[in-house]
Amino acid sequence: MSPVNDLDTALPDGRQPALRVMPMPADLNPAGDVFGGWIMAMVDIAGAIPARRRAKSRVATVAVNSFVFKQPVSVGDLVSFYADVVSLGRTSVTVDVEVYAERDPENPVVVKVTEARLTYVALDDKGRKRPIPAE
Ligand SMILES: CC(C)(COP(=O)(O)OP(=O)(O)OC[C@H]1O[C@@H](n2cnc3c(N)ncnc32)[C@H](O)[C@@H]1OP(=O)(O)O)[C@@H](O)C(=O)NCCC(=O)NCCS
Repeated sequence: MSPVNDLDTALPDGRQPALRVMPMPADLNPAGDVFGGWIMAMVDIAGAIPARRRAKSRVATVAVNSFVFKQPVSVGDLVSFYADVVSLGRTSVTVDVEVYAERDPENPVVVKVTEARLTYVALDDKGRKRPIPAE
């Protein structure tokens, strides 16, 4: 079993992330940490994955309800985005995204770095909102 898989068992609930990615030097801010906007973009992408699966259609982000940067992310961290649908409306799907950084491959530690809640709206093929179908 690879070290990444070993670490997976230490991550929340042993769940699979919606997205896992490693930031590059181009994603850093002037202080040398990963730019918050890069994390926000990845959170938006990760949250859209369960939203579009549940909506059974394309979705648009209508709101970022909350977004907390708890710890910095560094270049070289392996960043995992866990995304879960937490509520449904008539046309909307709300998703919680939790972000964990796996630091230092030689002596791995997993740190929760960000948590966010976003709402997506289901859209039809003409870009109009549409009801969330029954499961
Ligand atoms: C998404 C969009 C089609 C919604 O159209 P709208 O006519 O404004 O829709 P509504 O006001 O009826 O809201 C649609 C749903 O979003 C929800 N919603 C709207 N604003 C919200 C907010 N600030 N927070 C949480 N949910 C919100 C509504 O409650 C509704 O959900 P429900 O049907 O489950 O009750 C339209 O706002 C849009 O195109 N926005 C731009 C989307 C976009 O470009 N996103 C990417 C930007 S980075």
